[in-house]
Amino acid sequence: NKHQAWSALFSEPMSELVQRYTASVNFDKRLWQADIAGSLAHAEMLAAQHIIGAHDLADIQRGMAQIRAEIEEGRFEWKLALEDVHLNIEARLTALVGDAGKRLHTGRSRNDQVATDVRLWLRGEIDKLVQLMAAMQAALVELAAQHTETVMPGYTHMQVAQPVSFAHHLLAYVEMFARDAERLADVRKRVNVLPLGAAALAGTSYPLDRERVARTLGFDGVCQNSLDAVSDRDFAMEFTAAASICMVHVSRLAEEIVLWMSQNFGFIDLADRYCTGSSIMPQKRNPDVAELARGKSGRVVGHLMALITLMKGQPLTYNKDNQEDKEPLFDTVDTLADTLRIMAEMVGGITVKKEAMERAALKGYATATDLADYLVKKGLPFRDAHEVVAHAVKSAIARGIDLAELPLAELQALNPAVTADVAEVLTLRGSLNARRVLGGTAPVQVQAQVERHQRRLAAG
Ligand code: ARG
Repeated sequence: NKHQAWSALFSEPMSELVQRYTASVNFDKRLWQADIAGSLAHAEMLAAQHIIGAHDLADIQRGMAQIRAEIEEGRFEWKLALEDVHLNIEARLTALVGDAGKRLHTGRSRNDQVATDVRLWLRGEIDKLVQLMAAMQAALVELAAQHTETVMPGYTHMQVAQPVSFAHHLLAYVEMFARDAERLADVRKRVNVLPLGAAALAGTSYPLDRERVARTLGFDGVCQNSLDAVSDRDFAMEFTAAASICMVHVSRLAEEIVLWMSQNFGFIDLADRYCTGSSIMPQKRNPDVAELARGKSGRVVGHLMALITLMKGQPLTYNKDNQEDKEPLFDTVDTLADTLRIMAEMVGGITVKKEAMERAALKGYATATDLADYLVKKGLPFRDAHEVVAHAVKSAIARGIDLAELPLAELQALNPAVTADVAEVLTLRGSLNARRVLGGTAPVQVQAQVERHQRRLAAG
């Protein structure tokens, strides 16, 4: 079977099922740009080291230019019989330029080639994802900038806890996405190391200049152990773990958007273009985009499980198992990129219903802690103050009124330390303004945070 790179030894052709089962070209053709870039860098180095001739290099460069054009224009014929992106491109190169094409693979194996391609491709995708994470943060900061004075209930246990500003709540997500971007930038350092030169597993007897290839391709360094270079995919696991964490953050924001839009909250409205209707219930506008973003986090976490399970217990070095790294990795990148893009857009289309948020904050005795803190400032130990306020809340609940609506006399009956200045303390604004600690919800603090994020994001 002339189509196969290892044919001489084989006495019968591969069965069609085996061919279909083992081929990866249908999905790994996505690596074509990295594959060509890696081959060109390898070829240049081979020529510089006099392992191939200058004319061979020229032929390879000419052939690759044509292959690039054929792929870009959709004219390249991908062949399942040629198994993967590497053999497809190499076979076409040889068809185009003859012997020089056959010399390209000198001192190289598909094992170090594929590891190089995946790292090169992933590095580019990480850079795009970091940009998308910045755009997501910018959208949240822009909305937050308009709502440092908008009060909403803050929750613990999903029960009304203390008043916070909507801006403060949004900036919590900005912190998460900022860490996600940092995490990816950190993963990038370990992705950006060159495996090429490891050959099949043991290195090669040709005098390759690996450092030169690394420089040409923009790698920060070269893998220092050839067995490790072709064998491990920890960079892919690590990337997918970082992506999973980011998707989990997205899922929490998405869930809150769904909740806030529910009639029972009514805190926000979403632009029509991010909602869908119902074929049976004419009144419905459903937040499908947010629901899907929440759902797709499961898909990415699933890919993480696939990758770490793929690697578990694999003996060194390269095993064909590793070909299974690509689909989870590709889908992780696609899902995360699309999700960040659409969520950032959708955040820009949020209408905030300030009155509803404020009304909800007034409902759950959210200023009870403020009353306790007030009593502490008047000299009570905190635990005693806590107890006094519990009685005040109980009484307010019994009468169906807010803490701020309890007559002063009644509060004074509970504890004589209470004076008329308690009124301000019991308002939502008073509560917000009081929390001036660094990182707290007071508008002055939150405004400073908005500005810090704006500066940080502008600096890139
Ligand atoms: N398509 C393969 C992969 O993704 C390329 C490496 C194959 N090497 C080999 N010796 N079969 O891992």
